[in-house]
Amino acid sequence: MKVVRRREDLAAVGRELGLPTKRHALVPTMGALHEGHLSLVDVARQHAELVSATIFVNPKQFGPKEDLSRYPRTEERDLEMLEARGVDLVYVPTPDDIYPEGFQTAVRVGALAEPLDGASRPNFFGGIATVVTKLFTRMRPDVGVFGEKDYQQLLVIRRLSEDLDLGVKVIGARIVREDDGLAMSSRNRYLSPPERRIAAELNVIMRKVCQRIEGGVPVPVAIAQGRVDMDDVGLRPIDYLELRSSTDLSVLPDRALRKDELADARLFAAVMLGGTRLIDNMAVVEPG
Ligand code: PAF
Repeated sequence: MKVVRRREDLAAVGRELGLPTKRHALVPTMGALHEGHLSLVDVARQHAELVSATIFVNPKQFGPKEDLSRYPRTEERDLEMLEARGVDLVYVPTPDDIYPEGFQTAVRVGALAEPLDGASRPNFFGGIATVVTKLFTRMRPDVGVFGEKDYQQLLVIRRLSEDLDLGVKVIGARIVREDDGLAMSSRNRYLSPPERRIAAELNVIMRKVCQRIEGGVPVPVAIAQGRVDMDDVGLRPIDYLELRSSTDLSVLPDRALRKDELADARLFAAVMLGGTRLIDNMAVVEPG
């Protein structure tokens, strides 16, 4: 596995590995890797002969009060895990390599980036869109693989690639969960043992909300019950618990949903637990 740290070395190493003639899939990450990231590598492999990854903790997607300085950095282990999973090339740039002195451009995606995480984290999707545009431009993959855990991010990046003619097919990979249902996340390692037990309730409560909605309970009633259940187990403060369209994140009707509406419905949640922000999402009716 080749590890590149400077932009100017990318082209030569890419040529050594057979680019641009090989089909190339990229898995962008912020490191602190877990099985969820490795499943993205497996999906990438299904779509390409050459699989690359990036490890870059992108300062532009963190707010001033967020966890940039304490974000877990485990590069040595990350590289071992990527190599063991068969990745061919890893780009590990420094902040200066990505944002050199004088950098002042930002990429902003419209409506898809506004609700949910976009509403509570104002710089978040602008920072992601900007760095992913740069990573796509430097790495020039045919395919980019992103996890459905960050479902809104996946839609934002797909839109971005299309709108800016980046020529990268953006593929979503299913959420990988712990045995008790908690969605894997680099931030789960912040949870204390009691918080870790509470965190597992998020998925359980969300599944109940989905079952109620599928069973014909009006959406606001099911959501209100879900919020009460979350509060009862200590999942608070709740940032959002919302039902939206899987396709474009638009709001769904405030009533019991018809079968055709259920097929596109997805439940999104974000909640603070101690100092850790947990997010999760799921389709109300999982596609068969
Ligand atoms: O999902 C992530 O890890 C990050 O948001 C990404 C896509 C690597 C951009 O920094």
